[in-house]
Amino acid sequence: MRKIPFFNYPDVFTRFEKELTEIILNVCRNGAFIMQKELESFENNLAQYTTSPFALGVANATDGLIIALRAADIGPGDEVIFCSHTMVATAASIAMVGAKPVPVEVGFGRTIDVESIEPAITPRTKAIIPTQLNGRISDMDSIMIIANKYKLIVIEDAAQALGARYKNNSAGTFGFASAISFFPAKVLGAFGDGGAVLCADKEVYERLYRLRDHGRGSDREIVEWSGNTRLDNLQAAVLDFKLKHYHNDVTRRRDIARKYSTRLGIIPEIGLPPGPDENPDYFDIYQNYEIEAEDREKLQAYLIKKDIGTLRQWDGKAVHQWRKLGLKVSLPRTEKFFTRCLLIPMNMTVTDDDIDYICECVSSFYK
Ligand SMILES: Cc1ncc(COP(=O)(O)O)c(C=O)c1O
Repeated sequence: MRKIPFFNYPDVFTRFEKELTEIILNVCRNGAFIMQKELESFENNLAQYTTSPFALGVANATDGLIIALRAADIGPGDEVIFCSHTMVATAASIAMVGAKPVPVEVGFGRTIDVESIEPAITPRTKAIIPTQLNGRISDMDSIMIIANKYKLIVIEDAAQALGARYKNNSAGTFGFASAISFFPAKVLGAFGDGGAVLCADKEVYERLYRLRDHGRGSDREIVEWSGNTRLDNLQAAVLDFKLKHYHNDVTRRRDIARKYSTRLGIIPEIGLPPGPDENPDYFDIYQNYEIEAEDREKLQAYLIKKDIGTLRQWDGKAVHQWRKLGLKVSLPRTEKFFTRCLLIPMNMTVTDDDIDYICECVSSFYK
């Protein structure tokens, strides 16, 4: 019988096993483990790919958000608005610099509801962190208008959106700075943790450069307190190789999304994310494919029986729903969404036959 895992972790390595083995052996034989030419090459190629003037490898996207917030001098007494449908890391980064995370509703396309931003602004609001969720960019025109009106800093959580575009601008290039994740299940997946920050301003870049490496500048002068959040050179070498094939991955994912749109779009009990050809302003990379489903629990159980892996993002809760974190707000639309949302397989090992099978199973469940 067909078995479709939600994500096939060994594929992160096995798809290019021969080439990647060679790359790893080379780095190890050269003893080039920390901040070597492979990292520099990856940073240059990433900057070029995203059209960002500067890209800097970091240990993970959470650290990337933290150093971006620090570089923006955000700290105690400040408030930062974010969409509650995101990884806890977005909010945690705000809390880790001593500021107050202010969650707002999810809107169309599973990104931040721009209508909820202005009512959440107070005299203490310093920044907005839109999450470019599931490989789709938020409505950045509206966000930038609000940010300019209230003089707010925009830091993008682009952890899930490398290569996504909005009106031909790449994810991560809209605001003060942004963070990208290379967690293994990301479209560009490392062999462990990894991340990057992007920014356009040279001074911001220099500050980020110091914040990732013990407060030390490129001249090795230590000028402020910081920790260590460097991207390993070995990971950088792997990612640099994979970036060359990234375009193919995105094309395939958009193709899978197109198939899901056609096949699942006719089932009235299912709500779909925007399709790849729906709006020319958006180029989504489909890090995830997140449906809304009636009788979600039963559908998920049915798909498990059919050997189809699914996932409730963030263990089934929006950030404000983790009560012990103390974000005492009610966000009814987001809470309703979280009773219905489900990720279905979207990755490079899913075949066209698998997609047919998944769509048939979903259809037969509702029949
Ligand atoms: C939206 C979002 N933000 C932040 C992160 C954190 O990324 P990392 O695991 O690289 O710290 C993730 C990772 O899953 C994410 O999906």
